[in-house]
Amino acid sequence: MKETILVTGGAGFIGSHTAVELLDSGYSVVIVDNFSNSKPEVLDKIRQITGKDFKFYEEDLLNLDGISKIFDENKIDAVIHFAGLKAVGESVEKPVEYYHNNITGSLMLIKAMKKHGCKKIVFSSSATVYGVNNPVPFVEDMPTSATNPYGYTKVMIEQILRDVYVSDNEWSVSLLRYFNPIGAHKSGLIGEDPNGIPNNLLPYIGKVAVGQLPQLNVFGDDYDTPDGTGVRDYIHVCDLASGHLCALKYVLENKGVEAVNLGTGKGSSVLDVLHSFEKACGKELPYEIKPRRAGDIATCYANTDKAKRLFGWEAKHSLDEMTADGWNFIKNNF
Ligand code: WQD
Repeated sequence: MKETILVTGGAGFIGSHTAVELLDSGYSVVIVDNFSNSKPEVLDKIRQITGKDFKFYEEDLLNLDGISKIFDENKIDAVIHFAGLKAVGESVEKPVEYYHNNITGSLMLIKAMKKHGCKKIVFSSSATVYGVNNPVPFVEDMPTSATNPYGYTKVMIEQILRDVYVSDNEWSVSLLRYFNPIGAHKSGLIGEDPNGIPNNLLPYIGKVAVGQLPQLNVFGDDYDTPDGTGVRDYIHVCDLASGHLCALKYVLENKGVEAVNLGTGKGSSVLDVLHSFEKACGKELPYEIKPRRAGDIATCYANTDKAKRLFGWEAKHSLDEMTADGWNFIKNNF
């Protein structure tokens, strides 16, 4: 049996897909989740997909005793840390909740890791740390900043982990900067299933496709982009999961801190995604152009050289594969 990996937020969208990859690759997995933005039934879906079992703790990272208990009861070799609140707009309305949950929660996790001699972590960061002043394609050594409390939590947790390494060079840290994860596992059993009205584009289009929402509101068509709508680097969630396994292997074998982009290096507009999804679901979907959304940037996509050089990893799925797999999950679960 390979190493034992603690996956925080492992019942969530990216966490559950990564847990599947870990189990399929022979790792022993422990999942901790408080179900603040995920559902308990995902755990059995992971077991159903992989045919393997894992230990689960329903716990909040803010409860240091509860997190320490996980390390007391399991020899954790490395942590993949997904758990955190992640809605940009909500973070503007509830900054204190976001700073407390994301930063204090991460500090409690790091304290528990230090206490138990676990010094290897893969952190779920985000392309949002590139802020609004960097030129595209984004490169890892560019300065980081943020335009909202959610983004600042990612910037700050990256800094905390860099400082932990400076205090103890035995640590190994991978800061994974995701672009826009969409799609779902081919089984259609797990996927992006946010509570309430979705903030993100793909699940919103999905709810339009199943008739739960009347139309897609396209936030602006006057950007300096090919068709005027926002351009993003959409990446299949399963490519993202495989990127995490490469990062995990790297931290298990090395020391130091590395920020790495996980994207495709290609940009797609809102209308590109909509039309791709229409092909997947076989129907035309209603949309209306609305004013720009506050905080949005025109274009965001990754320079992917470092992930290729350091991990030997690159994304493999096309946009049409992402929307087809996304629809396969949505039509069976929304
Ligand atoms: C994508 C594009 C919108 C919804 C955010 C976070 C980022 C990460 C991914 C967590 C934009 C447009 C969207 C809609 C629309 N989250 N859009 N109508 O904003 O690129 O990134 O989610 O890590 O950190 O910032 O993703 O899916 O919200 O928007 O027109 O109903 O779709 O304007 O151009 P975003 P998104």
